[in-house]
Formats: sequence, C-alpha cells, structure tokens
Amino acid sequence: MGILDGKAAVVTGGGRGIGRGHCIHLAAQGASVIVNDIDPDEAGKVVQEISDAGGKAQANNDDIGSREGAAALVQQCADAFGGIHALVNNAGNVKDRTFLKMTDDEFDSVLRVHVKGTFMCSQEAALRMKEQGTGGSIVNTVSAAHFGNFGQTNYAGSKGAIASMTYTWALELARAGIRVNAISPAGTTRMSATAKIGGKVVDLPFIDPTLNGPFVAFLCSDEASYVTGQIFGTGAERITMLEQPKYGTQMLKPGGWQVEDILEHFPKNLGKQLENFGLMKTPYPFYDGVPPKPKA
Ligand SMILES: NC(=O)c1ccc[n+]([C@@H]2O[C@H](COP(=O)([O-])OP(=O)(O)OC[C@H]3O[C@@H](n4cnc5c(N)ncnc54)[C@H](O)[C@@H]3O)[C@@H](O)[C@H]2O)c1
Repeated sequence: MGILDGKAAVVTGGGRGIGRGHCIHLAAQGASVIVNDIDPDEAGKVVQEISDAGGKAQANNDDIGSREGAAALVQQCADAFGGIHALVNNAGNVKDRTFLKMTDDEFDSVLRVHVKGTFMCSQEAALRMKEQGTGGSIVNTVSAAHFGNFGQTNYAGSKGAIASMTYTWALELARAGIRVNAISPAGTTRMSATAKIGGKVVDLPFIDPTLNGPFVAFLCSDEASYVTGQIFGTGAERITMLEQPKYGTQMLKPGGWQVEDILEHFPKNLGKQLENFGLMKTPYPFYDGVPPKPKA
C-alpha cells in the first residue's frame, strides 16, 4: 500500500538526475508513471528500474518544449493508465553566460524548455484533470537561482517565471480541485556537479539527487490535499518553505510622493534598509560600482 495507489503521474525529464528520483519514489508509492525524457536510453533505464522493483511505468520521449509533445505526453498517460492525477514539471536545461554576452538562442532555448514546457504540459494536464473531474496535483520546479544568480539570466528568469506561474495557477485551478506547488530541489547531477568559484571550476560535495522524490510523492498525494500555492526547498536533509513574495516596509505620504519628498525621506528610511540579494545573499553593497549608503 502506498499513498499514490491508483494514481497516474507524469514526470518530465524523468530519465536522469532529480527527475529519475521523482519517478522511482512516485512508483514506489503505487503510482503508475510516465517517464518522459528526450533521451530515450535514459527514460528506458528508469522504466526498467521501476518494473524490476515491481512498479508500473512507461517511457515517453516527446519534447516537452513543443505543444505536440506536451499534448502527446498527457495523452499517453490517459491511454496507458486511464487518466492523469499528477504532473511533475522537472525537465530542464542550462546555457549559462553573463548577461551582456548572452545570445538570443541561449535565452530562447532555456525559456523554451523551462517556461513554455511547464506552461504547455500543465495546461494539457489541467484540462484533462478538469475533464476527468478528479482534481489533481501539479508540481513545478524552480531553483534558488531565481533569487538572482551570476551568469544565469535565462535560467534565473525562467525559474522566476515558473514561481509566478505556480502562484497564479494555484489561484485559478483551485475550483477544479487541482493543487499547484513547486519545489526548489538540490542534488548532484550533470547540471550541478561543479560550480565556478573565484573563476575556478570546482567539484561540489555529492548530494543524492533522488532524495527530492519523497516530498514530491507527498505533494502528489491526497495526504497533501490542503497544500497549494507553496514553494518548498527539498533535497538532502532539508525541507524548507520559501517565503511568499510580498511587499515589506513602506513609506506613506498622503497625496503621493513628489521627487523632492523622495530625496528627503528615501535615504533616511527605505534607503537604510536595502537588503542583500541574489542566491549567495552577498552583503549589500558588494560591487565597486555601487557606493555604500549615504550617511544620514
Ligand atoms: N541539480 C540541482 O541541484 C538543481 C537545483 C535547482 C533546480 N534544479 C532543477 O531540477 C530539474 C532537474 O534538473 P537535473 O539537475 O536533474 O538536470 P539533468 O540535466 O540531470 O536532467 C534533466 C533532464 O531533462 C531532460 N530534458 C531536457 N529538455 C527536455 C525536453 N525538451 N523534453 C523532455 N526532456 C527534456 C534531459 O534529457 C535530462 O534527462 C531542472 O528543472 C533543474 O532546473 C536542479
């Protein structure tokens, strides 16, 4: 008996890395799983692994960055397993380059898989869940890179867009009983085995990428029926909540702010509370070109 008995799930990019872990844990909890990956060999290996362990899975090799691929993927799940109850949008790619050097192709390629792929797969799945009348669960994948990360305009922008789509779909799909959450995973994969630190490429400590799977299985199950519109950091030993974006400290002026008011009040108030930012939360200010805050 598992918490996903009788449910059908799709995992995009499930052939390796973090997605493979999702597939294995979903299947171990009783779900029938479509293992999607544009790499057929890797998807096939995961299906074999699940079958060997007594689970149920089928491979799918559609490109989730195309509408035809997204539609065919969801259709395969319905044909094979009688419906779809969970979608995990995990597929991803990276094409890192600093902002001023990034090409249109590098930008488009990453947005295509992450943003458009997540949009199209979710739309196809949610339409099907609504038609079934069963409700369901969508789990998106973001990254702490969306806080801002050097050299990742396309990737950080994609993950920020996915976070915003998660909140929006949680609002829109609630009436159809469809919950939408996201994880910000961690794990050593070909995407994250090394990092450039101080201009040098270094190996990072190993984190088992499959350890994000148990929480994804929970989010896909009815045990999480009260959880929607949330983003969780997962992987290794942690499960953490991402704070909801919201307005912070404010300055109010009846009638509105004129430039002279701003020049007088901003440095003494909000100007003293500027926060550290970016994935590394480097102390602000951190570049030679950004001067320290003016003395009041
Ligand atoms: N590895 C990390 O530490 C980390 C951290 C934060 C977020 N993430 C996110 O987790 C997800 C998985 O990353 P990973 O590290 O396992 O990467 P990975 O490269 O090991 O796996 C991604 C898989 O997606 C597949 N894929 C790519 N484009 C596809 C497409 N168009 N259609 C179908 N499949 C496609 C690839 O073939 C690959 O098997 C990504 O969304 C990534 O951004 C990873």
